[in-house]
Amino acid sequence: MLFPFAPRPNPAEYPAHSMPAETPSHTPSPSPCRVVLLGGDGLLGSAFRQAWSGHPAFELKEFPRAELNLTRPDQIQQTLDRTPFDLLINAAAYTQVDDAEVQPDLAMAVNAKAAGSLAELCAARGARMVHFSTDYVFDGLKTEPYTEADTPHPLSTYGRSKAEGEALVAAASPQHLIIRLAWLFGPGRDAFPEWVLHQALRHDEIRVVSDKSGTPTYSMDVPRWVQALLSGPASGLVHLVNGPPCSWLEYAQGVLHAAAARGWPLRTTEVTPVPLSSLPGLTATRPVQSALDTSLFTRLTGIAPRPWTEAMAQHLDSKQPPA
Ligand SMILES: NC(=O)c1ccc[n+]([C@@H]2O[C@H](COP(=O)([O-])OP(=O)(O)OC[C@H]3O[C@@H](n4cnc5c(N)ncnc54)[C@H](OP(=O)(O)O)[C@@H]3O)[C@@H](O)[C@H]2O)c1
Repeated sequence: MLFPFAPRPNPAEYPAHSMPAETPSHTPSPSPCRVVLLGGDGLLGSAFRQAWSGHPAFELKEFPRAELNLTRPDQIQQTLDRTPFDLLINAAAYTQVDDAEVQPDLAMAVNAKAAGSLAELCAARGARMVHFSTDYVFDGLKTEPYTEADTPHPLSTYGRSKAEGEALVAAASPQHLIIRLAWLFGPGRDAFPEWVLHQALRHDEIRVVSDKSGTPTYSMDVPRWVQALLSGPASGLVHLVNGPPCSWLEYAQGVLHAAAARGWPLRTTEVTPVPLSSLPGLTATRPVQSALDTSLFTRLTGIAPRPWTEAMAQHLDSKQPPA
């Protein structure tokens, strides 16, 4: 079943042979897709807000945590029952990986049970649902990037709650997209690049873990990728990251080089490698290799996600360097 709107792809990301034909000018515009966005104040959700509010293809309705708390099944049902919508974007989640070890019930309630309830409500009204998950559903023992065919084996409570959420969404909704992301950065909330910049602006040495690898993802690229997936009949599980894979150390070096090239007054651009085992305060076990393979996404849409270094340059261009 095709989704009832036709988003315009970004020509820069489509190879010429796969560009959809231009819509003839006499074709009436389809009505906008009515979207409910949860988690709009988060790192990912704010990217959807920025990309889709005011967009002619979408009519966005947001419910922040104060209006729809995912720990309150009654509130989820009542709020969605009185809201007409065609598509639900669930960018809300319990994302504190270490805190989840001491709050497993809360992590499970938000990331698993509530996700399943949302999927049931979407299925009951024939709405489509986009739900987000994580590379932390894997144990990191694979040496190659993980594909959608690999079996999750989470090492942490957060990872288990997200894997359980995936399973509940898939079981409840026939029209779902479960998108696994990793290592998000972007405007709105500080993430790894902001920590690196903070350190390099204040210290002569930065110590970063070199024996953990994954795939950085620019939050502002995700809405466009999701829109491309929604324009087709795709349903199921898809990995979406910028790539190529890198270690935390290489990620930090990429941030510093981009900032130095833009004249940021850094005290250092050198990074000292340290092992993951030396990091204090990590209560959750993390996968040491959790890069995600995006070839399924490219087969479905014709889009090859751009390198994270290019996206990082754009991210830093949107920031004000300190005086
Ligand atoms: N960040 C990453 O590196 C990363 C990596 C892989 C996958 N992901 C996945 O990507 C998705 C988005 O992550 P993110 O980094 O954007 O998260 P985030 O910045 O922590 O934002 C999470 C959002 O969820 C909302 N929320 C939390 N508990 C809630 C509750 N009980 N009821 C309603 N809303 C609640 C938060 O509300 P408040 O605004 O009130 O706090 C916030 O808006 C998640 O599914 C996450 O698992 C993230």
